[in-house]
Amino acid sequence: MTKRTYGNDSIRVLWDSSLCIHTGFCIKTGSGVFDPQRRPWVRLDLASPDVVAQAVQACPTGALRYERLDGGPQEESQTPTTVVPWPNGPLFVRGSIEVSDRSGDVFLVGPRASLCRCGASRNQPFCDLSHRETGFKDNPRARPRSRETAECPADIDGATLPDG
Ligand code: SF4
Ligand code: FES
Repeated sequence: MTKRTYGNDSIRVLWDSSLCIHTGFCIKTGSGVFDPQRRPWVRLDLASPDVVAQAVQACPTGALRYERLDGGPQEESQTPTTVVPWPNGPLFVRGSIEVSDRSGDVFLVGPRASLCRCGASRNQPFCDLSHRETGFKDNPRARPRSRETAECPADIDGATLPDG
């Protein structure tokens, strides 16, 4: 796992390789700041801090974060929190996120995260692109047929109700 920091007087950008799944969203913003074919792959001198911040916020996984040092606005968590299933891939979450295990150990606190929904990730609960190896196919609008007409939870296909 690599964590790198890139900075100038105006902004500091942090990149966490353990969360990066090569979506390329940061590159597609067209800022020129991010280019994995170049070394260093982050060049903050190629855009204003506002443009850098916009490109960082395009990263859906939270692998990229920034800290403004020039008094410019820090990233604010989106409200309401949104959870968007990426076709045949992870859940992209944006909002005020804290990811922890059952004992309360916190893995991630931040405004963006990409959560595995195929079950194959070796970096649970985050997506690590293993869904591509396994050929995961989603069914994003799947609904048990009787859900629309259910009059109580027991009517829903596959329902398991608690005892008592
Ligand atoms: S947008 Fe985020 S996850 Fe995608 S390539 Fe850039 S840093 Fe990696
Ligand atoms: S959804 Fe990407 S590894 Fe599971």
